[in-house]
Amino acid sequence: MVTAVGPGALGRHLALVGFMGAGKSTVGARVARLAERPFVDTDAEIERRHGPIPALFEERGEPEFRRLEEALVTEALARDEPAVVALGGGAILSETTRALLRRRAFVVRLAVDVDTAWARARRSDRPLARDEASFRGLFGERAALYADVAEAEAADADGVLTAALAVRVARGSLAGALAAAAPGATVVADERLPGLAWWDDLGPDVPVLALPSGEPAKTLDVVRRLWEELGVGRDGTVVAIGGGTTLDAAGFAAATYLRGVDWIAVPTTLVGQVDAAIGGKTGIDLAKGKNLVGGFHLPRAVVVDPDVLATLPGAERRQGMAEVVKTGLLTGRALWELPEEEMVRACAAFKCGVVLSDPYERGRRAILNLGHTFAHALEAASGYGLAHGDAVALGLLAALRLSGQPTDVVEDVLRPQPVRVDRETAWAALGRDKKGRAGRPRLVLLRAPGEPEWGVELPEQEVRAALDALIAD
Ligand SMILES: NC(=O)c1ccc[n+]([C@@H]2O[C@H](COP(=O)([O-])OP(=O)(O)OC[C@H]3O[C@@H](n4cnc5c(N)ncnc54)[C@H](O)[C@@H]3O)[C@@H](O)[C@H]2O)c1
Repeated sequence: MVTAVGPGALGRHLALVGFMGAGKSTVGARVARLAERPFVDTDAEIERRHGPIPALFEERGEPEFRRLEEALVTEALARDEPAVVALGGGAILSETTRALLRRRAFVVRLAVDVDTAWARARRSDRPLARDEASFRGLFGERAALYADVAEAEAADADGVLTAALAVRVARGSLAGALAAAAPGATVVADERLPGLAWWDDLGPDVPVLALPSGEPAKTLDVVRRLWEELGVGRDGTVVAIGGGTTLDAAGFAAATYLRGVDWIAVPTTLVGQVDAAIGGKTGIDLAKGKNLVGGFHLPRAVVVDPDVLATLPGAERRQGMAEVVKTGLLTGRALWELPEEEMVRACAAFKCGVVLSDPYERGRRAILNLGHTFAHALEAASGYGLAHGDAVALGLLAALRLSGQPTDVVEDVLRPQPVRVDRETAWAALGRDKKGRAGRPRLVLLRAPGEPEWGVELPEQEVRAALDALIAD
């Protein structure tokens, strides 16, 4: 069970409110599946216990229906295990329910326009959708109540999942990134970013603590300098702007300074937007390995603006595409074929779902390491000359081969090339994998696209052969 609470729906119920026809049941079921949480659909549960809602309205009247509904919502929100709860459209009429929602849940309003809602609801047998004029009147009356109780708004399952971890994916959102931070926030950014075409969108003359570009940011020296220079108090905010390296280092400084201050992540690489900014892993490297010192510290908000990717060099984009293909294989959807903004959003949403289900990587979050055991071994054997994404592309090949799954997608989209490293060094590095047990790697494999399994131990010769096949003679 998740014990820590917030930000967003972490450790709390995720409640969906909204008007009839918004799609709360369908979206709620999908969100619950992706976040691996129990799902309570209050209308369906009332019908299961008391029979069809139209008959209930007819025979016992709306006040009695509302009483049953309030009792059911109270019961659902009283549970300790965080669930996804889809509330009937009128449930928020109850003051008790609204108060409970504020206390016990992260509430997302599922948005729908009145015409769409009517087009959907008129075909149903809903008692309050028999007359168009009163339906439209009700829509107007209830809008304020939804707005009053909801902390976020979304239009679909991906929107709910991202909102649930305070991740906002939208073109042009960079402009509001600093406004989301309290006055006095400190901006920490990759030294190469000021001066890029989009930088001025942040606001005029933003003072910045600059970090070295790339992996050199993830050192104790850099973090020590940040600790010394961060001008924020306990209630201050660090705004980290850059790729995964900037976010890891600045997030780690925020996690540790004054025993933890708030931070906002503004990822500017594809790797950052689909992966590194989401889920609260922060950290730095040691001479003996990458990411060996760190902590979980979820950002208060993640501002993802795909527009900033316009200046990203092609080689860096390719690094991110490896994570996109990995995510597509995990979810069973060809995410790499989507237009950029949708692709980023879908990847971010998938990761949010996994993190919501297992924030501290005690189980399922391990699936995000598909291909990574091999990738880490090859990176280490190359003395970190091999880029992470290129290593992941090779690692995905190995994982798919060991899974008995076709490799054409990885080959077509990522075009991985065997790498020239010492085989014994790579094999030794694979045995040292952080996630392994007693020198035996525990792998993530795919039963089928969209059906990952983790913690798989295979005979040594098979793993060794898969690794050797990635290495050029
Ligand atoms: N915390 C996590 O969950 C997590 C997940 C995945 C990766 N990571 C970490 O992320 C790091 C890799 O991140 P990365 O691939 O973003 O690398 P990066 O941060 O080094 O950025 C790559 C390069 O792109 C430049 N850049 C950044 N944004 C740009 C833009 N919009 N336009 C032009 N250039 C830009 C940077 O200056 C840098 O040279 C690794 O250290 C990895 O361990 C962390």
